[in-house]
Amino acid sequence: MRRYHVTTFGCQMNAHDSERIKGMLESLGLGETAAPEAADVLVFNTCTIREKPDTRLAAYLGNAAAWKRERPDLVVAVGGCYAEAQQERIFELYPFVDVAFGPGSIPHLGDWIAAGGYAVPQGRFGAHEHFAADLPMHRERNFQAWVQVSMGCNSACAYCIVPAVRGREQSRRPGEIVAEVTRLAREGVREVTLLGQNVNSYRDPLSGLDSAGLLREVSAVDGLPWLRFLTSHPKDFPEGLGEVMSGRPNICRQLHLPLQSGSDAVLKRMKRGTTRERYLEIVSSLRRRMPEIALSTDVIVGFPGETERDFEDTLDLLRTVRFAGIFSFRYSPRPLTMAAGLADDVPLPEKQRRLAAVQEIQKTIQIEANARRVGQVEEVLCLGRGKKTPQLFWGRNEGNLVVNFSSTVDRAGKFVTVKITGSGPYSLRGEEISP
Ligand code: SAH
Ligand code: SF4
Ligand code: F3S
Repeated sequence: MRRYHVTTFGCQMNAHDSERIKGMLESLGLGETAAPEAADVLVFNTCTIREKPDTRLAAYLGNAAAWKRERPDLVVAVGGCYAEAQQERIFELYPFVDVAFGPGSIPHLGDWIAAGGYAVPQGRFGAHEHFAADLPMHRERNFQAWVQVSMGCNSACAYCIVPAVRGREQSRRPGEIVAEVTRLAREGVREVTLLGQNVNSYRDPLSGLDSAGLLREVSAVDGLPWLRFLTSHPKDFPEGLGEVMSGRPNICRQLHLPLQSGSDAVLKRMKRGTTRERYLEIVSSLRRRMPEIALSTDVIVGFPGETERDFEDTLDLLRTVRFAGIFSFRYSPRPLTMAAGLADDVPLPEKQRRLAAVQEIQKTIQIEANARRVGQVEEVLCLGRGKKTPQLFWGRNEGNLVVNFSSTVDRAGKFVTVKITGSGPYSLRGEEISP
């Protein structure tokens, strides 16, 4: 039997696509190998959100090229967002690549990788034709699942390449989503994360049901203890969402709400369609209903024209909101975006300084917030043994924070009651107290 290996870059959407890619390859009769150097079919599911992933991919492909020189029947396939951005150029840049395909073409994988895993050298790019939910799927964990509610993105954030590579937004019918979640809950899945580039702009094309309504329907599914959704865009945050979240005990008190910048001038140039004031309003209304809610965000520093003053506004907002976690990035100009036409005028050392300042402030906030949890008792979904510390187990609490804990038994996939005994900026430490 020929074996495949998939390397995944990028966001949860890509990780979810990899589950479909693996499912497709298995339906062609291939088996998985954890060792890329042993694979007969090597798939790279790529990301192109910033320049860094492009450079990382080049290094991975360098290895693939060397293996292919030794083993000419090795099939190298490049999928995902970078492939979609480059299209046929992939074959010029990397002539040893046999198959290239965009995120919308996963259902056609079987057209180029034939039964048994032999390549029919070709590529295909293009829009998603329909939801790929009915494709075979190889889920990474049997107790956690992603469920896609929409694909593509209709926002026009000036820095972002996603709309160019993932196409126009299409919402999936609510009945299909509820049916998939119901099936997963019956199979024993403990945590479902609804996925969309912008879950908040979800709208059923036929009934007009919005994301708050969808969440109300999905959270009514029996036997699903934890429901999350990702990502929320503040400009589309629906009226009733806070009420639905606070009224349903199985919707985790956790929300990722990307901010990008604390400066109205920068938000405007980014075409985020929202303001600092509106963002703060959403935060306070959520906290009024759910004081314990764990909020996280994304921040970009050094967007074109970002002044020291603009940057200070971002720091100020971080200090005001005190997020439970953030992802922070240096602005990286991308082809096919509006901002590519703006001068990238914040020098690299200055971007680095701003990024370090954001991370420093945020780290202090997290050290303080996490230290306050010591002594508390928390429910943790156990994800298995620690990778670096196999004598400990690890999991996540409702706020999605990592908890490393001692226990006598491996309870992967089970909820464990943990007494918090220690904390750091990015995780908690504890011991199991449930039987
Ligand atoms: N659809 C999601 C994910 C977008 S990509 C959302 O809207 O949140 C994830 C994050 O990458 C973005 O929130 C943004 O902070 C960052 N990002 C996107 N394009 C970028 C660029 N060109 N340079 C730096 N960071 C970028
Ligand atoms: Fe990109 Fe904005 Fe769409 Fe998110 S909402 S994928 S940042 S364009
Ligand atoms: Fe995700 Fe990267 Fe594509 S963040 S949508 S994999 S460009």
